Amino acid sequence: MIIAITALKGGVGKTTTSIHLAAYFQQKAPTLLIDADRNRSALIWSREEKLPFYVASQAGATSLIRKYPHIIVDTRARPEADEFRDLADGSDLLIIPTTPNHLDLDATFKAVEQLEPLNANYKILLTKVDARTKGGEQARKLLEEAKLPLFKTEIPLLVAFERASQKGVIIRDYSDPRAKVAWLRYKLVGEEILP
Ligand SMILES: Nc1ncnc2c1ncn2[C@@H]1O[C@H](COP(=O)(O)OP(=O)(O)O)[C@@H](O)[C@H]1O
Ligand SMILES: [Mg+2]
Repeated sequence: MIIAITALKGGVGKTTTSIHLAAYFQQKAPTLLIDADRNRSALIWSREEKLPFYVASQAGATSLIRKYPHIIVDTRARPEADEFRDLADGSDLLIIPTTPNHLDLDATFKAVEQLEPLNANYKILLTKVDARTKGGEQARKLLEEAKLPLFKTEIPLLVAFERASQKGVIIRDYSDPRAKVAWLRYKLVGEEILP
């Protein structure tokens, strides 16, 4: 399966989502994460070689693609319209992470406007949801009212995600009391895609 993670905004959890979904898919079959973002965040995350899957740059991936049943593509923010079309054509599923922040939601609605005419198979993932506020609930309501495809599972706001990336590990391998719950969320997202 080929899954691309895309959004019009940066900082919404594209790389974090790519890393953790790659970890989920790796449990099913060999999975390649292609870092197609010029800032190379996923490649930097993988530098310590503590990730359970292989990360390649876009240029480095060409010879590898055939060998992997599952491919996750982490993309850059603000893709051009052409890039959206290429991603839609080249993937089985596009995932659009968004935080409940109104600017991020606004960018998500704009992304959907671009994707709809392309007949893209896409699904929105709510990320960095702060359990202490009603932001997540309100965002879900807004997206549901607009009848947009949305993952049932959402990703909580937890500093452990940032710490795990600094340590070069996935959250499952990070020693924090909440790491297990956090990993379970991405596992549930994975199960919504490929049980
Ligand atoms: N669920 C989360 N909770 C807390 N921080 C998060 C979460 N997801 C991502 N982050 C942090 O937010 C920042 C942006 O995330 P990142 O995955 O790099 O987004 P993008 O690839 O869209 O720019 C990073 O510092 C990351 O560690
Ligand atoms: Mg990124």
